[in-house]
Amino acid sequence: RGVQPTIITIFGASGDLCARKLVPAIYNLAVDNLLPADFYLIGFGRKPIPDAEFREIAAESISKFSRRPLNKEIWNRIEKNTYYCSGGYDELEGFQKLNDKISSIEKDAGREMQSVFYVSTPPSVFDPIVKNLGEVGLATKYQDSDKHTKVVIEKPFGKDLESAQALNRAIQGVFQERQVYRIDHYLGKETVQDLLVQRFANTIFEPLWNRNYVDNVQITVAESLGVGTRGGYYEQSGATRDMIQNHTMQLLALMAMEAPASLDAEAIRDEKVKLLKAIKPLKLGYENPEVVRAQYAEGLIDGQKVKGYRDEEGVSPQSETETYAALKLAINNWRWEGVPFYLRSGKRMARRVTEIAIQFKRPPSSLFSENEMINLANNSLVFQIQPDEGSTILLNGKIPGLQTRTQPVKMHFRYSTTFGSNTPEAYERLVLDAMIGDGTLFIRGDETEASWNLITPLHEFWKAEGQRGMETYASGSWGPNAADRMLWEKNHEWRRP
Ligand code: BG6
Repeated sequence: RGVQPTIITIFGASGDLCARKLVPAIYNLAVDNLLPADFYLIGFGRKPIPDAEFREIAAESISKFSRRPLNKEIWNRIEKNTYYCSGGYDELEGFQKLNDKISSIEKDAGREMQSVFYVSTPPSVFDPIVKNLGEVGLATKYQDSDKHTKVVIEKPFGKDLESAQALNRAIQGVFQERQVYRIDHYLGKETVQDLLVQRFANTIFEPLWNRNYVDNVQITVAESLGVGTRGGYYEQSGATRDMIQNHTMQLLALMAMEAPASLDAEAIRDEKVKLLKAIKPLKLGYENPEVVRAQYAEGLIDGQKVKGYRDEEGVSPQSETETYAALKLAINNWRWEGVPFYLRSGKRMARRVTEIAIQFKRPPSSLFSENEMINLANNSLVFQIQPDEGSTILLNGKIPGLQTRTQPVKMHFRYSTTFGSNTPEAYERLVLDAMIGDGTLFIRGDETEASWNLITPLHEFWKAEGQRGMETYASGSWGPNAADRMLWEKNHEWRRP
C-alpha cells in the first residue's frame, strides 16, 4: 500500500486543525517513511502569506503539536516542497492560481501527480470550494486513472438531513463518490479499527453477540473539557450534532453491524448503512423519553471551579444548546431486537473517557445464596477507546476463603503494556488512506444521511420545545439525573467508567 506522487492542498491552512493535526500528521508520515519522494504541500487560505512564512508556521506547529520532535533533516525534505496560495473560496481567481501552481509543480518534477484536496474550512464554504475545483478542471483531472483527484471533507457534514443531502448533491455534482473522503476522525483511532479485528478475528464473541446473551449496550463518549473558545461554533451545534450524529453513531455501527463479506471499503460501509437504517425512529415526548438533553452548570473539574455553559464566552445566557445528550436506541433486526443501546456524550463530565460496554444477561438460576445472586455483576465486555486504550472482561469470581463469596473480577488488556504507547494519531492514518485511495475509514454519502435521518426529528422536536425538558448537570459529574431515570425503566444503570 504505497502512496503515489502526490500534491496535497489544504484549504483552511491558517486554521486550528491544520496546525494541530494535519501538518503534524504529514510530518509523522514523513518520519515513518510513508511519503513518496514526490510529495508537495500547498496551503490555501484567504489571507495572503508568503511561502517562507507558511513554512515557518508549519515548522512551528510541528514543534508544538507533533507526537515526535522536529527533526531538521526530515522537515527540510518537506519544507522545500511546501507552498502557499491565497484566494477567496468563492472566487475563481485563487483556484486558477492554484491550478497553475499544481501544473508548474508537475512540470518541474517532470511527471503527472495525483492531487488531494483537504477541505478543512467552516462548512459555509464547502460548496464554493467544491464548485470551483470543478470549474478549473481540477476535479476531473486524470479521471480515468488511479491518479484521479481526491477530496477530503472535514466535519460537520451538514447540520440536518436536508443540508447533508444538499451537500451530497453539490459534491456529487462535481466529484464521483469514489473520489470523496468524508472525515470522522474517530475512525482513524487505533482502538476503533481494533474493534473490527476483535469482532471478526476471534470466534469467542460472535456466538454471544446477539439478543440471546446481550442485555444492553452502553456507549459513552465523555469529555472533561468545556467548550473553551469554541462557544460560537458550539451554540449552533450542541452535543448531538458535534458528537452523537457522527462519532458515537459510528462506534455503534461498527459494534452492532453484521460481518462484512470482505474488508473492502464498500462491503464495510454497506453493513454500517444497513445497521443505521435498522434503528427505530426515536420516540419523542415526555413520557418515558428515549432522549435526554442537558447543559453543564458550574462545578469542579480536577478540583478547579469552572463556569457553567451559559456563562461561557460566545454562549447566550438563554442558550437552548445541549452540552450533553443521552439516547436510548432500538435496533430493529434479527440480531438485536429488544436490546437497548444507550448512547451518551457530554462536555464537562467527570473525566475524559470513550468506551463501548456490552453487558451480558445474568445467569438463569440461583445456584448461589440469594445474597450472592444479588451481588453478582452482569458480565461485561468493555472496549476502552480512549484514554488508557484496551479492553476488559468483567467476570464474577470466588473470593478465596472457606465460604462461597463472589466478587466481580477483571481480565484486562492494555495497549500500552502490550504494544508501547507511541501509536500513530488518527489523522496520520486518515491522511495516508486518502492519499492511497482507501475509503474504508471514511463516511459514505448514504451513511451520513442515514444517521441524520435518525437525529433530525429530534432537533426539530427540541427546537419547537425551546427550553422545555432541558436538564442541567454539575460540571465534573456523570450527567443529569434524568439520564439515570431513563435507564431505570428497564432496571438498568449507567456504568461508571
Ligand atoms: C470533535 C468535536 O469532533 O471531537 C469536539 O468537534 C470534540 O468538540 C472532539 O472535543 C473530541 O475528539 P477526541 O479525539 O479528543 O475525542
